[in-house]
Amino acid sequence: MTDSNLVVNVKNLVKSYQVVDKSFQILQGLNLEVAAKEIVSVEGASGVGKSTLLNILGAMDSYDSGLVDVCGTELATLTERQKELFRGEKISIIFQQHMLLPDFTALENVMIPLMIAKHSKIKAKEEAASMLDKVGLGERLDSFPSQLSGGESARVGVARALVAGKELVLADEPTGNLDRENSRMLMDLIRNLQQEMSFSLILVTHDMELASMAHKRNKIISGVLQPFV
Ligand SMILES: Nc1ncnc2c1ncn2[C@@H]1O[C@H](COP(=O)(O)OP(=O)(O)O)[C@@H](O)[C@H]1O
Ligand SMILES: [Mg+2]
Repeated sequence: MTDSNLVVNVKNLVKSYQVVDKSFQILQGLNLEVAAKEIVSVEGASGVGKSTLLNILGAMDSYDSGLVDVCGTELATLTERQKELFRGEKISIIFQQHMLLPDFTALENVMIPLMIAKHSKIKAKEEAASMLDKVGLGERLDSFPSQLSGGESARVGVARALVAGKELVLADEPTGNLDRENSRMLMDLIRNLQQEMSFSLILVTHDMELASMAHKRNKIISGVLQPFV
């Protein structure tokens, strides 16, 4: 496979954080390749740099050195404005804290990415409703986040992330706040939608069961990514 078939191509990524007068190197020459339609896990103990890596891939954080090519764009070359556009066009994020807007209904929350992508309101409504139906919430379109259970909120978060049909989905501990039963439900849902919609998925998790859906499993150890064995 040539590099151009890769949705994510990271080479020798170094990232450190400055805290007062000390520098902590979190990622120390990390490599990662993700092909189209591939599910790749990034596992590892708390604090090893999983979210740091995801934030860099989503053009939400800078890095010290290395190559970070995402959907054919080298992120270091982008201005802040270009990063915003890049995120809007290419990347979806499923958060652990579902980050739903509290004053908007489930339907309105899922419509947001479509409105940003300049779909008409009628079309956005239709597509958001159909996406919520797919995640089993077709009867809860008018519910506000405060009226939804944790599992239901998580599913709205998934619907919002996937509705715009982006090429790359980044999920940061998507089952982190859920009990076993809801975790399983969310996992089946993400797996089925990935098969149907064919996006690439980077799954950050320390949930072994969730990680088992990945085509390739990896673990961050000492600042680099190693195949999971
Ligand atoms: N903005 C920041 N400034 C300083 N240190 C940070 C910052 N963000 C994260 N860190 C540190 O970097 C390390 C990796 O964090 P993170 O990527 O959130 O880990 P993980 O997601 O694997 O639990 C942790 O030690 C954390 O304290
Ligand atoms: Mg994290």
